[in-house]
Amino acid sequence: MLKPNLLTANSAPFLFFSHGSLLSSHRSSPFRLRPATVKLQKIGKHDCIRCASGKVQSSSVDRDAPIGLRAVVAVKMTVGGLLSNLGPSRALDDTTDLFGKSLLLELLAAEVDPKTGQEKATIQAYAHKGSQDIDDIKYECDFTIPKSFGEIGAVLVTNEHHNEMFLKDITFSSDDTTTLTISCNSWVHSKSDNPEKRIFFTNKSYLPAQTPSGLRRSRSKELEIKRGDGQGERKDFERIYDYDVYNDLGDPDADEDKARPVLGGSKKYPYPRRCRTGRPRTQKDPLSETRSSSMYVPRDEAFSEVKSLQFSGKTLRSVLHAVIPSIQTALIESNLGFPYFTAIDKLYDEGLTLPKQEGLGLLQSIIPRLVKVISDGTDDVLKFEPPAMIEKDKFSWLRDEEFSRQTLAGVNPYAIQLVTEFPLKSKLDPQVYGPPESAINVEMIEEEIGGFMTVKEALKQKRLFMLDYHDLFLPFVHKVEELEGTTLYGSRTIFFLTNNGTLRPLAIELTRPASPLKPQWKQVFMPCWDATGAWLWKLAKAHVGAHDSGYHELITHWLRTHACVEPYIIAANRQLNAMHPIYRLLHPHFRYTMEINSLARQFLISAAGIIESSFSPLKYSMEISSVAYDQFWRFDMEALPADLIRRGMAVEDPIAEHGLRLTIEDYPFATDGLLIWSAIKQWIQDYVSHYYLDSSHVLEDYELQEFWNEVRTKGHGDKKDEPWWPKMDSPENLIHILTTITWVASAHHAAVNFGQYQYGGYFPNRPTIARIKMPVEDLQEDEFIKFLEKPEVALLRCFPSQIQATVVMAVLDVLSSHSPDEEYLGGEPELPWVHDPIIKAAYERFNGRLKEIEGIIDERNADPKLKNRFGAGTVPYESMKPFSEPGVTGMGIPNSISI
Ligand SMILES: [Fe+2]
Repeated sequence: MLKPNLLTANSAPFLFFSHGSLLSSHRSSPFRLRPATVKLQKIGKHDCIRCASGKVQSSSVDRDAPIGLRAVVAVKMTVGGLLSNLGPSRALDDTTDLFGKSLLLELLAAEVDPKTGQEKATIQAYAHKGSQDIDDIKYECDFTIPKSFGEIGAVLVTNEHHNEMFLKDITFSSDDTTTLTISCNSWVHSKSDNPEKRIFFTNKSYLPAQTPSGLRRSRSKELEIKRGDGQGERKDFERIYDYDVYNDLGDPDADEDKARPVLGGSKKYPYPRRCRTGRPRTQKDPLSETRSSSMYVPRDEAFSEVKSLQFSGKTLRSVLHAVIPSIQTALIESNLGFPYFTAIDKLYDEGLTLPKQEGLGLLQSIIPRLVKVISDGTDDVLKFEPPAMIEKDKFSWLRDEEFSRQTLAGVNPYAIQLVTEFPLKSKLDPQVYGPPESAINVEMIEEEIGGFMTVKEALKQKRLFMLDYHDLFLPFVHKVEELEGTTLYGSRTIFFLTNNGTLRPLAIELTRPASPLKPQWKQVFMPCWDATGAWLWKLAKAHVGAHDSGYHELITHWLRTHACVEPYIIAANRQLNAMHPIYRLLHPHFRYTMEINSLARQFLISAAGIIESSFSPLKYSMEISSVAYDQFWRFDMEALPADLIRRGMAVEDPIAEHGLRLTIEDYPFATDGLLIWSAIKQWIQDYVSHYYLDSSHVLEDYELQEFWNEVRTKGHGDKKDEPWWPKMDSPENLIHILTTITWVASAHHAAVNFGQYQYGGYFPNRPTIARIKMPVEDLQEDEFIKFLEKPEVALLRCFPSQIQATVVMAVLDVLSSHSPDEEYLGGEPELPWVHDPIIKAAYERFNGRLKEIEGIIDERNADPKLKNRFGAGTVPYESMKPFSEPGVTGMGIPNSISI
């Protein structure tokens, strides 16, 4: 259990020196000037004044004497950066250190010279290498500061080494009393790569208009540097944030079949933007960028080498680099399915022996959960842990009530919706796709619920629900049918809400539209009481399972969290200075997202990548996500309450908790998610109202306005003209926008990410692909006879092949795992938050509330009345529990999308 330490602040934030007025408007919240206290402290031979709360005190010491200060820079030991033992430049850097000219610090005064109106001259000193421990090396230097210098506003750093270095923080002290700590947590490039100095501002946050006079130029210059000029190929050490379209998924130069359309920037394929890397264009397609084994992300967005080796991103890279090729070598026959169900069990019991190859031993230490060495040490074995649902009930995946329950409490709780009209109707063009009415008719439904209520009553009482994968998939059916080893239908699945509050599936409709060669095929399958019908029902559920897996991975997971958040990160870094309170609020929610997305572009969503190899739509997978972005994605609907209302799963009710009444009371994702949503909203409300008292403060904040403008017009530029974008014109709207972004990056992602192995780790429960058609489609005689002979084999042939299943299981295992140093929502606070007592208190409340929520969720999971989360062999719903132990736990909400 994580125990956030909220009391780690060890310093007053500013240093002042005894001149003139010690209180100025920028020293506290801009719109709530509180009396700050400036206390003179005796520091060695000199005097220093530092800011604390209380009131001004005077000192009898010499106010004109210069001040002596010691600065200590904590530099993290890293694998590939400074202080590594790798590479020839190490010796050069040691020599530089020996001469004490390795790290130049320059202090920048917060205020301009009152006489000239110009910035004061910086005060410089070279830091020399001092003490060293297992994690850090300390660089130290002494400053003598004239009395007229005033408050330190920032430190400029020049790294004279030949290697980059990771700066943790810079601490100023005298007589061993820490008086100022500046958090850096950033890579500083070598001067030989880029002569530009790095700037680190103090931990005090300022809205743009409140920026101290001596920092205004630096504030805007820093943003200019991060915006870059949009030219050329980005280099590894750069910190430039810019936009580009998804034009690097294909590889047309390698193979014509690997050409892919550019996603983003067109009416046909709208998409959120990704980070611009500026790589050369391909020869065969001038619109596409060449692929590369290492893709640029701004330096501080890359997985930090200071993270443990078990960091999930590194683990994922290892799995993709080494394990998957091994699986592909071990299982030579790519289309081979599992011959019988017990063969699937062997993956957990005996494992899959991997061919001997270099590096697998190392993998065993990185991913011990997956790769085992058998006892005599001769072979590496890929052995899977049984997922939670199989551990608890081996046969639950076969049952209808579990199929339904997972729509409310599984890994894709974002698709179930209320049925509001009957019969269901397609919105697709009937000229192309046939009559819009569903084949599921009143008689069929009433056959199932007859005697209980009519369809009309069920609609009125909001008892009918559905998974609707009809209109999204139908236009791709013929294209997908032309590909080998897969099939696709449009599907609709109808459920009935029982008096128990659980869902019961009533019917599945599978549709293939008409083509020039074939007429439309459309059939309804229902739970049956004869053997043939019962097996057809199981097969139809497998097809719907594949549709749901594809929709989940491509849309609720990849598109709505990973892809849609990246533009917020780019815009924030281009338009909000590091001193901006909103930058500091959002920053923890953006950690490592750009890097994991870059990894996804290399291996997961690229042409012939994991998604294209293992999910039903194969090479059309990403095009489908573009269609979903076009037709479905709206920023204003990404807020949890709006999403629930849109799907008919809730209605507004001012007297209900959270202002919403749920259509299904026991909807675990919604009930728990709303607790988290409200906690996030309260924290953000406390934070925002500390800085913005009224709408004018929001409207006058030009950095904030530019941030939001770029999100709308550049990052999500294909949606820039939509009328639904909230306006950045009031504290209320700002709070709602920030709550939505934070929710998506933390809880939405956690809800659809960390349960993936629990439910997808046994693939019959969530097949990613349905490889063969329903045996009754077009009445294919051969297939139907085979099906009648051995229906179990038909089901196994429909499921993923051995390679597809094993590769996906290995990836899901890593994606579902928390690293030992995961950063959770409401966990360790950012240092600048701790600095301000009001923000610190609000964050402590947030943390306390999240712990309460953890208890509430535990109580709910123990309540026998809540049958969608409690029951014999039922996996409890823990996705919205904020904290977790490392590993695959099915709980824990990290701050950001980092896996
Ligand atoms: Fe993810």
